[in-house]
Amino acid sequence: MIIEPRMRGFICLTSHPKGCEKNVLNQIDYVKSKGAIDGPKKVLVIGASTGFGLASRITSAFGSDAATIGVFFEKAPAEGKTASPGYYNSLAFEAAAGKAGLYAKSINGDAFSNEVKEQTIDLIKADLGQIDLVIYSLASPVRQHPVTGVLHRSVLKPIGDTFTDKTVDFHTGIVSDVTITPCSDEDIANTVEVMGGEDWAMWMDALLNAGVLADGAMTVAYSYIGPKVTEPVYRKGTIGMAKDHLEATAFKITDDLAKIGGKAFVSVNKALVTQASSAIPVIPLYISLLYKIMKAEGTHEGCIEQIQRLFSARLYTNGTIPVDEKGRIRIDDWEMNPEVQKEVAELWKGATTENLTAIGDLAGYKSDFLNLFGFGFDGVDYAAEANEMVEIPGLI
Ligand code: NAD
Ligand code: NA
Repeated sequence: MIIEPRMRGFICLTSHPKGCEKNVLNQIDYVKSKGAIDGPKKVLVIGASTGFGLASRITSAFGSDAATIGVFFEKAPAEGKTASPGYYNSLAFEAAAGKAGLYAKSINGDAFSNEVKEQTIDLIKADLGQIDLVIYSLASPVRQHPVTGVLHRSVLKPIGDTFTDKTVDFHTGIVSDVTITPCSDEDIANTVEVMGGEDWAMWMDALLNAGVLADGAMTVAYSYIGPKVTEPVYRKGTIGMAKDHLEATAFKITDDLAKIGGKAFVSVNKALVTQASSAIPVIPLYISLLYKIMKAEGTHEGCIEQIQRLFSARLYTNGTIPVDEKGRIRIDDWEMNPEVQKEVAELWKGATTENLTAIGDLAGYKSDFLNLFGFGFDGVDYAAEANEMVEIPGLI
């Protein structure tokens, strides 16, 4: 069928298999253009199908010839209905990996469940023996707890005070005030259950106990800090409490991995347009101002540039891994540059519907958003019939 973007709210209901393929191939080309990394050889990526996780899988495979297992939760195609973009991304990734002679298999299911952890361990045992890197890159609004069965929902709310500030509807370009009322205590606990570190620790525990972690294995989860303007809804809000928990969990996991000499890290990444971040109020306006400034200074990066730099300049330099005073890897260094932040803060004050296209990179935001779903790529004929029913061979 002919596939066009169909927007509803913060999401796009359709995705384009050829465009998703193009997205993946572009990322592969980028990683190859940066040269080989003396990196991991057998990698598990949890949340491997989009955003930072997909970039981690691509960097592992095409930067250091790694065998990869990807875990994700994506919608397969149905007659007349496209798959979710992460499904087509993974199909394209596996095809490219296969062509390059690289092992790649994927598991589509709920990573929070015991079943998916067991399936993953079985697959590692059968095919790879042991793994040396685990990337934890889940972003989800819900988690069914594997022990209690409770379905926890995360919320994006301030703590304590009502928050009012500017936001932009990136589809229409309209800048307006958004007011978010403070969360309840339950909201905090639920958000920590979903986006905190418990599931990461459960994964590492299960992998360690199954004997599938190689000596010196490393695990990395992703976090975010961001600017003052987003603090009440992000870092000091409910999601920030979850990120605090995730960051604290790294130390606990490092302790648990002592017997194999393993280490857990959190990497603080840059704000980027992904399905997860588009849904957070205020962030799209911040991103559009940030992009404008970083593109002008030549320091703008997307997920793949971020992760390629994380692997080549932080994780696998053959030297010590540099961390901040809280033990975190910082690959958000260019975003958090005080000069950049000062400029964003100034632009923020004056941002309106009328001037945003001039002072911000709304066009860049929109184009990145469309790209997430495989739309807007050069070299893809969107007027042509596309086969939405393509399937990932051997998907578990
Ligand atoms: P994303 O939405 O692009 O990717 C989420 C991934 O998780 C997908 O592969 C999805 O299939 C998978 N997933 C979700 N629920 C799942 C489940 N129940 N079982 C299995 N897989 C599941 O998100 P992203 O922006 O790449 O976020 C990844 C991590 O990076 C998050 O921890 C996020 O907070 C962090 N981060 C994001 C940004 C940003 O600006 N986007 C910045 C810094 C850090
Ligand atoms: Na991801």
